[in-house]
Amino acid sequence: MITLALSKGRIFDETLPLLKAAGIEVLENPDTSRKLILTTNQPGVRVLLVRATDVPTYVEHGGADLGVTGKDTLIEHGGQGLYQPLDLQIAQCRVSVAVRADFDYASAIRQGSRLKVATKYTAIAREFFASKGVHVDLIKLYGSMELAPLTGLADAIVDLVSTGNTLKANHLIEVERIMDISSRLVVNQAALKLKRAAIRPLLDAFSRAIAASETP
Ligand code: ATP
Ligand code: PRP
Repeated sequence: MITLALSKGRIFDETLPLLKAAGIEVLENPDTSRKLILTTNQPGVRVLLVRATDVPTYVEHGGADLGVTGKDTLIEHGGQGLYQPLDLQIAQCRVSVAVRADFDYASAIRQGSRLKVATKYTAIAREFFASKGVHVDLIKLYGSMELAPLTGLADAIVDLVSTGNTLKANHLIEVERIMDISSRLVVNQAALKLKRAAIRPLLDAFSRAIAASETP
């Protein structure tokens, strides 16, 4: 049996075509079922539904053999004990710094002001501002980061941006792009050795599907 950890929503939805290319079809719909362990058309493959931020933890500790997780989540987790064989090129976005449209970020940086930065991505933010030599007070949040500059909780946020619609709807502007993000396949290192015969064909099928989706 191989167990794949996925999070509901875009990662589940965008992984389905890759699974299909490997001949795997999930037999239950997570939007209508309350089940957390989903069966597939392959008796030897099952899918666990976990919170996006918990995927690396499940795979690290062997609760799942494989998982799909954003590079953002992986950096924050640290990636210990995980083999990262493939960039699946799904759930593409970027991590950026955003501020209120009326906040002069450039001059705050120039003047060496200490910035209050709210984010779920404290490791990424700490490393980014340290590399720029900017002093920051980080405020850890778990969601709705956009509210922080609007309420005076913070001067800036570090958050995911894709279309930019969320920033725009909250009168925020993107002032720095920190890094591009996509989702990775992560594999438990022991499982890769012990279940190689089952995992290897899956990796090969995923690689072929990614290569095919890149070809114009
Ligand atoms: P949790 O439930 O643990 O708080 P989450 O709500 O961030 O996680 P999702 O919104 O499903 O979970 O995001 C999962 C991953 O998808 C993120 O880690 C990121 O890599 C990517 N992602 C998030 N938002 C977007 C977006 N707007 N466009 C493209 N990819 C995104
Ligand atoms: C993510 C992220 C941003 C938003 C950015 O949230 O935390 O708030 O997407 O995407 P945008 O630039 O396209 O607006 P969430 O997972 O809630 O996004 P969703 O509403 O697409 O699910």
